Order: sequence, then C-alpha cells, then structure tokens
Amino acid sequence: MQSLLNVKKDFPVLENNQDLVYLDTGATALKPKVVIDKINEYYNEYGVNVNRGVYTLSYKATTEYEETRTMCAKFLNALEKEIVFTKGASNGLNMVALGFGMDYIEEGDEIISSELEHHSNILPWMEVAKKKKATLKYIPLDSTGRISVDAFKKVLTKKTKVLAITYVSNVMGYISPLEEIIKIAHENNVIVVVDAAQAVAHMKIDVKALDCDFLCFSAHKMMGPTGFGILYGKYKYLKKMSPVEYGGDMIDIVEKDSCIAKDAPYKFETGTPPVAEAIAFKEAIKYIEAIGYDKIKEHVDELTRYALTKLSKIPGIKIYNPTTEVGIITFNVIKAHPHDVATIFDEHHIALRAGHHCAQLITKWLECVGTLRACIYIYNDYSDIDKFVEALEEAVKYFEEW
Ligand code: ALA
Repeated sequence: MQSLLNVKKDFPVLENNQDLVYLDTGATALKPKVVIDKINEYYNEYGVNVNRGVYTLSYKATTEYEETRTMCAKFLNALEKEIVFTKGASNGLNMVALGFGMDYIEEGDEIISSELEHHSNILPWMEVAKKKKATLKYIPLDSTGRISVDAFKKVLTKKTKVLAITYVSNVMGYISPLEEIIKIAHENNVIVVVDAAQAVAHMKIDVKALDCDFLCFSAHKMMGPTGFGILYGKYKYLKKMSPVEYGGDMIDIVEKDSCIAKDAPYKFETGTPPVAEAIAFKEAIKYIEAIGYDKIKEHVDELTRYALTKLSKIPGIKIYNPTTEVGIITFNVIKAHPHDVATIFDEHHIALRAGHHCAQLITKWLECVGTLRACIYIYNDYSDIDKFVEALEEAVKYFEEW
C-alpha cells in the first residue's frame, strides 16, 4: 500500500465532527481552513463591493476579486477575457445554452448530449430545442454505460450544431474520451460545451489542449466556496454570446431606448457578485495545486481499489461501476431502496448520497429507482473505507432479515 495524503487536519468540518465519514464529495467537497479564512478575511478586513467605489477598500476588494480571474485563466490555460464568473456549473451551462445556443441553433438543427449527463447539461438544451424547433439527440451508451467515440460518430450528422457533454459522469465516475470527440466535433463544425463539474476536483484541465469551446464548473466541487463558478468560453464565441441577465455593472452606456453592453467577460456579470466566494476561490486553487493532481489521483485510486476489493466480497449488493477513475462508487443493496440504506449509513455517521443524483437518464439506463454513491477524496483514509464497508455489511444483513 502506498502512503496516502494526510490532510484531514486541514478541514474544520472533520475536526468538528470527529466520527464523520464524508463520502459525498460528488455533491460538494469539504473546504480547507485556508478557504474559510480567506472568506473571513474579506468580511472582517475589507468587506465592500467591487467595481464601484472610488475608495481604498473598494480598490482592495476589486483587486482581490480580479486576481481570481487571473488565477483561473492560468489554472485553465485560458485568457482572462475568457473567464466568466458565474454562480456555478448549472448557471454557466444555462448561460451558454440560453445566451449562445438560443441565437446559434436554427430550426431543423441537431444538438447532441448524452444519457450520462447531469440535468444541468440537458434541460437548458431541451429548452433551446423546443423553442427553436431543433432536435435533441443522445449518444447511446455502451454496455458498461460509457460514452465512446464510435457511439458519438453514430449520432453525428450534417445537422449537428452543438455537443453538450460531461467530462466526468457524476453517477458512474467515467471520464469521457473528450480529446478525440472534440477533434471529430470540430472537423464537423460542431461547438462543444463541456460540463467539468466533477472533473475539476480530480484532473488538470487545459482548455487549450482540450480545445473545447465552452467549459463550466463550480468552485465548491474543488473545495472552493459555494455559489461561485467559472464559465470558460473561447473569446470569439463569448464576444457573440448574449447575456441572459441585464442590469447593473454589465453595461457601458444606457439610453432611454438602447444600451451598449460591456465586452466579455463583464457583460455576463450582472449585479453584485459573490465577492467573498470569488476572492476565496483563489485559496482553493492554491490548495489543490500545492497538493497536485497526480498525488490526488494516487490517493483516490489507492483507496478506491481498497474499497472495491472489500466490496467485491459482500454478497447482496450490486456495483454499477467497478472502476477507479475518480473515486466514485455507485451501488445498491439488492433488497433495499437506496434511501433506506442511506439512513443506515447516517446512523453510522457516514454521509453519502442516495437517489438519482440529478441524472435521471443514467438511473433509468441502470434500470433502478436510484443508487447509492460513495465518493472518495483526499480527506478520506483507510479507516473511513473500513467503517463504510462495515456499515454496508450491516445494512445488507438487516435487509436480508427484513
Ligand atoms: N451534482 C451534484 C451531485 O452529483 C450535486 O451530487
């Protein structure tokens, strides 16, 4: 066994809940103290609005805030003008579909998504398809529930205009073969929108190397604050894209019957933003980069292998994705509803998610009412996995006897 990261002490929630086994990172990652401290620093030391006041504290807040854009650009290998601050991945994906897709898609066009998507990367496009009389199609999944390049080619036609695809499935934890899919999409003039909500905690994302046209994620999934996220878009598309919200701060000139919006990215940032969250996100980037994605992967893979080996010895459960890609294990106790099993886990102070995980199409594909999902991350250790497995054994026994 390799030596694992030893970072539990960096997370106040774990310090304050000593018996907690947190396996719900797919829903949100815990926040290290450095992120929480930065939020407090903003509110305690210069908690004023950005981009407005002509006074020292407002300059300080604005500088801290814009430094996040600079850092995000570096983090993703993008330009600063390609980084739009959003409320999170869902907000960013909606902005692309409703602000770009609504203008770009025409009657008869085709939009491709997949059955692995989170609802946030399907429903906005469903709305576009409905309003524009276009068709929304899905990449058929292979027998293990994966997206493949060949399956994408099968649904691609001359009418395809947009591909909205997940980088990592929030239910199966599979990494999509995006490099090849994006290359083929571009050879066919298809715009590619990537949902990177689950990927960003686990993988270095280089938008230039990936060559995606848009990519969205939430800060909170990578140990940053909630209510804040990033929409990356190639500048040539952001320039054309319409804002979906109008109001303060996104406008240069307002007349009685017309207005001139600011250039990207500012035309998409209306009203007072989540200032503290944006500022504190820098600390999450620094924290994740200081550990390094390679080390994160080693740690997560090691614990996931350890868990899968133990789980394979438990009869009466079904594991849907026996893979170590990003530490997501999706399973069911055959004789029980996932919510009932989650209650037993809760009695053991084990936090994990049960249900359809806002991804009903893959849940239907798996032919079940829902699943349990354990997400392993950097603050988990062997003892967490042991407790998880013991609780699961107890649950199986309980429902066998029921
Ligand atoms: N999308 C989040 C999840 O998968 C909330 O749990």
